[in-house]
Amino acid sequence: MRLVVLIALLAVLLAACADRAAGKFGEDLYRLECAGCHGADLQGRIGPAIGPGSNAARNLSDEQLRGVIVVGPGSMPGYSRLSDEQVDSLVAYLRERQGVREDASAYHR
Ligand code: HEC
Repeated sequence: MRLVVLIALLAVLLAACADRAAGKFGEDLYRLECAGCHGADLQGRIGPAIGPGSNAARNLSDEQLRGVIVVGPGSMPGYSRLSDEQVDSLVAYLRERQGVREDASAYHR
């Protein structure tokens, strides 16, 4: 019986890791921290649209995206409390949703 519980726990852990590798980490962060202002579909609400075809998709480099997230321009709050890993995974998530880079796997850790 104990073994069954242990195996079940391991399976849950592995699934959590797989989600994270697939960018789920960034997606969760986005929903939690950003969607209220930028919209669940990155379509913009209080903040500007940052999805496909937006200024952020066309004109901002990954480095600039990182800068925006950490510093927070204008009335956007800065997220300096997020770890590098969290910011990376947010950038990877944005890029995936923007369709800017098909394979963002290099940005998932
Ligand atoms: C309280 C509302 C709010 C929250 C929360 C917020 N933003 Fe923003 N965001 C804004 C506003 C407003 C701007 C425009 C700021 C300016 O340029 O004056 C902006 C700008 C941006 C831009 C640059 C857009 C461009 O075209 O230059 C990006 C990228 C961005 N936000 C991403 C994020 C991400 C990722 C998060 C979550 C970590 C987030 N924002 C959280 C309000 C918000």
